[in-house]
Amino acid sequence: MKDFKGRVAVITGGASGIGLAIAEALRAEGAKIVLADVEAEALEAAVAGLGGPSEEVFGVVTDVSKEESVAALADRVFEAFGACHLLFNNAGVGAPSASIWETTINDWKWVHGVNVMGVVHGVLAFVPRMIKSGEEGHVINTSSGDGGISPLPDQSVYASSKAAVSILTECLAAQLAASDSKLAASLFYPAGGLLDTGIWTCDRNRPDELARETPVEGEPQTFEKFAKLAKEAGFDLPIQPLDQLAAHLLDGIREEKPIIMIGLEGAVETLRGRADRVAKGQLPIEPSRGLMN
Ligand SMILES: NC(=O)c1ccc[n+]([C@@H]2O[C@H](COP(=O)([O-])OP(=O)(O)OC[C@H]3O[C@@H](n4cnc5c(N)ncnc54)[C@H](O)[C@@H]3O)[C@@H](O)[C@H]2O)c1
Repeated sequence: MKDFKGRVAVITGGASGIGLAIAEALRAEGAKIVLADVEAEALEAAVAGLGGPSEEVFGVVTDVSKEESVAALADRVFEAFGACHLLFNNAGVGAPSASIWETTINDWKWVHGVNVMGVVHGVLAFVPRMIKSGEEGHVINTSSGDGGISPLPDQSVYASSKAAVSILTECLAAQLAASDSKLAASLFYPAGGLLDTGIWTCDRNRPDELARETPVEGEPQTFEKFAKLAKEAGFDLPIQPLDQLAAHLLDGIREEKPIIMIGLEGAVETLRGRADRVAKGQLPIEPSRGLMN
């Protein structure tokens, strides 16, 4: 898809961070925007920031972990526009850093419910209708280098959810490429430096029924705390402006790249290192690696 003007874009997790930056970039190019987010107040503010609500920009309170909620979102979008050209399955959350045996069942249920099933629900609710409409379309699923490229061991819940997103998106992209439809799919890896988004405080959206069974010790995670830990661990990364990240993503969609990531070359080096170690029958990640604790 070369031109976004007049196209309908649905962005889950669009009320904050990366999703909102994508919405702003697309709106500036004349796309019609539907923001879908579980956080009603933030959603209202985000829609207002985009000049809505209007016929071309509106929000739908959506919980991507719930099949019926995403189905209702799709109904709303197709009723309003009769089409969806760009679907961003972007909503995501993470669990506290922990050894895997100290994670809790609710950590897994919540994070995999949003990150993995959220994408599955998006694909199942939208892709058949996008194919049926006969129009050009693109599905973009947000993964993470943490899991999609190489996992941080103390982020096993999040990393395994993003590994699932990467694999299911590769399958989707391959199947669409082999089909007669005018649809394509891409994997988006947000990168380029530290990303100052709301994910560090994602617990704000954790439902009571999936509350953590054992309280987390210490101060709650924040972007500032993570940036400090990263620096101390030797990763003195710049802050990646979100508008530039979104611009890079839109370029990747225009160029029909199945994998979109700033600094992809570095990720490829990491993957080669992993492959070399696997070929020798070794563990592909360093036992000591991890900077979240
Ligand atoms: N921030 C990073 O460093 C980073 C790096 C790699 C990948 N990612 C991925 O980028 C995506 C966007 O995250 P972000 O960093 O912008 O965080 P963010 O918290 O700023 O945005 C995530 C949005 O998802 C919404 N959300 C949470 N649960 C939801 C649910 N059940 N249904 C619908 N919406 C829900 C939140 O309300 C929020 O608006 C996520 O998939 C995340 O895993 C982030």
